[in-house]
Amino acid sequence: MRTDTPPPVRLVDYRPYPFALDHVNLEFFLEPSKTRVRNKMTGRRVFGEHALMNLHGENLKLISIALNGHILPENQYEQTDEGLNIHMPAGEFCLEIETEISPEENTQLSGLYMSGGRFCTQCEAEGFRRITFYPDRPDVLAPFDVRMEANKEKYPYLLSNGNPGKSGDIGTDRHYAEWSDPHPKPSYLFALVAGDFDVYTDSFTTMSGKETPLAIYVDKGDYDRCAYAMDSLKRSMSWDEDVFGREYDLDVFNIVAVRDFNFGAMENKGLNIFNAAYVLADGKTATDADFEAIESIVAHEYFHNWTGNRITCRDWFQLCLKEGLTVYRDQEFSADMRSRAVTRIKDVIRLRARQFSEDGGPLAHSVRPDEYARIDNLYTATVYEKGAELIRMLRTLIGDTAFFAGLNRYFDTYDGQAATIEDFLNSFQLSTSENIKEFANWYSQSGTPVVTASGVYDSIARTYTLTVGQRTEPTPGQPDKLALPIPLRTALFSNKGRRLSTKLNGEINDEHLVVLRDFEQVFVFTDVSSAPIHSLNRGFSAPIKLKDGLNDANRSTLAAADNDPFAQWEGLQTLARGLLIDLASNEDGSMNDRIHAFVDAIDEAFTAAIDDPAFASLILRLPSVGELIQDQNASDPSKFHAARLTLKRAIARHIENSLVATIQNQETGPFDPSASAAGRRALKATAIDLLSSLQNEHAQRISDNFHSATTMTEILASMNALGNIEGGGAEGELFDNALTVFEEKWKDSALVMDKWYSVQAMSVRSDLRARLQRLCARTDFDLKNPNRVRAVAAAFAMNNPVAFHAPDGWGYEFLTDIILKVDGLNPALSARLATAFENWRRFSSDRQIHAEKQLRRLDDANLSKNAQDIITRALA
Ligand code: ARG
Ligand code: ZN
Repeated sequence: MRTDTPPPVRLVDYRPYPFALDHVNLEFFLEPSKTRVRNKMTGRRVFGEHALMNLHGENLKLISIALNGHILPENQYEQTDEGLNIHMPAGEFCLEIETEISPEENTQLSGLYMSGGRFCTQCEAEGFRRITFYPDRPDVLAPFDVRMEANKEKYPYLLSNGNPGKSGDIGTDRHYAEWSDPHPKPSYLFALVAGDFDVYTDSFTTMSGKETPLAIYVDKGDYDRCAYAMDSLKRSMSWDEDVFGREYDLDVFNIVAVRDFNFGAMENKGLNIFNAAYVLADGKTATDADFEAIESIVAHEYFHNWTGNRITCRDWFQLCLKEGLTVYRDQEFSADMRSRAVTRIKDVIRLRARQFSEDGGPLAHSVRPDEYARIDNLYTATVYEKGAELIRMLRTLIGDTAFFAGLNRYFDTYDGQAATIEDFLNSFQLSTSENIKEFANWYSQSGTPVVTASGVYDSIARTYTLTVGQRTEPTPGQPDKLALPIPLRTALFSNKGRRLSTKLNGEINDEHLVVLRDFEQVFVFTDVSSAPIHSLNRGFSAPIKLKDGLNDANRSTLAAADNDPFAQWEGLQTLARGLLIDLASNEDGSMNDRIHAFVDAIDEAFTAAIDDPAFASLILRLPSVGELIQDQNASDPSKFHAARLTLKRAIARHIENSLVATIQNQETGPFDPSASAAGRRALKATAIDLLSSLQNEHAQRISDNFHSATTMTEILASMNALGNIEGGGAEGELFDNALTVFEEKWKDSALVMDKWYSVQAMSVRSDLRARLQRLCARTDFDLKNPNRVRAVAAAFAMNNPVAFHAPDGWGYEFLTDIILKVDGLNPALSARLATAFENWRRFSSDRQIHAEKQLRRLDDANLSKNAQDIITRALA
């Protein structure tokens, strides 16, 4: 165990900044190896008499400081590891600081760095301090003016936040451009881009009639892959006006795509910077999942303009204030653009895969934690995805009218400010008669509540007494849990599958909102005409784990009868989960009856859903291994994998003809990215996957499909399937042939080649280890490119549980080797990869020994603070 772990940052230690900035003027003299930054801040002391002015700074070469026009003598400031402390006089000041930085040596991709020969920035959360000395905290807001100067030929486009100002030539080979952002903003929203690009332009007329030019800047040659991102942007702008009444507020809106980026994208004011993977798409190179991700991330970053930028966070503990709310908004957008039910199902799959596993392990933390060691490690599924679920629950609890009234009050009250969760919740409290005081505990309590339910029918009184309880397991630092208000949308069905109209709290309805507030509570439904089956947490109204007390027969009845597609899907998932867990521990064939019953239920639901292929493909989906191990101890992922394979085979055999017919359905006409066309391809991909469970029986057909397919979704589905047919015979050659053909075709397209890497990293074939070694030895396996590293390491560790958790520990060792190599270059990336170990204590003891060995290896390696934070918590 290392001892030099820095003390955590704590919410209770928050203190307002004693100085206010009225204006910031930045000048950049851009050179890859030596960029000069002149930073002129004017402002004043707002309180305190002797307070030092703390400016953050990291990796900066200080050239000069001047205060109120005079060079500052060295005894008036001190330089520390964290930055500068300056003795300031009372009243107003003008502070001018010049620094030098080296963008080309910046491999962390935080601050100002080079990507593909272009300058770009990433400042959230604490990257601005790597550009200049500054109060790099979200509660210090200022209007920014920016001037950039650079070589004209290499960097013809010079972009920053806000509105464009003057530009022109300097001498023969240099030029400059000025930008001005009138909206006061914190430093994390600053951005700068310089380089040569293809520029895809369009415009949007806002609700008040203002025509706003839009542009997407991409690598030369990528012009033809911008249309979908632009279309998504325009739809986002219009949707935010229609649904939330929010209008865009600058003269221009720009998006830049960069190849080297640590996450999805960044909402810098007026200049969103994106990982190119979430901008570029066309019918040949992108899967439907890519199109869907582009649509939602473009929307997400755009929506931040109001939820994040106009109203920002007082401190980083409030991160969910902007992220949870913005994820909620982008999920609603996707639901409106596509199928609401299918979107909801996918959101829940993602929540379960990423957030529930985080919440159930050593990295569990609340949506608004009260301390953190490293801010970069707080960009988690809990803050984002669970944060969004809290907003959704709040809306369910207080109703649409109060929800929108509260949100408008929030926008009106805090526009231009840095706010807190308390400010946010208070805006709703003032708009509803519902008491939401207890609801705030959802923000401070970590862990996923387990809700249990059981019911008793009284045929004489015609009542149904439903007893509901909640319990949350202890999580790190939180041994005792409170009861939370849990809104459960609830319906009762007859045992013939008819939805019953019943009375609860004086209201007659065929669906009720049951709000569980205590650890245990009893709800009495009256006017219940026959013995009912209860259907709880419909639409996933609360992010909980439900033990509904029903038997398989009841669930099958509900799955067949329910008119709510989410509830129907969830019923089948619950059936599948129970079956798979039992199958994993019973290999003696004694479960054939249950398997048959399940397959019949799936077949019935599948047949009924056939007109909605996107939904039908989700009906055929089985819970992932990652999901299945969540509530298990000493688990062996290969047993869950085998159980899934058994069940997939049973399904595939049962509907084999229909699956084959689905595959043979050829797409005609030009590529259509719409949700309905994507749904047809999703079903095809699922059919391919199911047929591949029958091993070589359909291998040739799948290979043929690979060669004839015209869309990336199908091509990739076929390759994935071939990679999951075990054995080294003819099938192995089919996989390798496909890889060769694919590589030949796409070797010059990095984003497409990322898929080629991932398909291999996710394959379950016995030659995987050697294959991964070969992949990592290739010259295009670039450790400095996060997309490429993730294509191998994250695909392997997060999506190939059987190999990652190989009983002899090679999977853990492989990931550890990569983490060790990446950490010196990019700590944000290595820390993220290390989270793959988060559930190591859930596995069988032999695996735990191997995982712990690798974690100790990392712990001893003197890693970056970011990675060390994850390792320390994982080992605690
Ligand atoms: N605010 C960005 C977004 O969600 C993500 C920034 C991530 N920053 C980080 N340090 N992990 O839209
Ligand atoms: Zn965000």
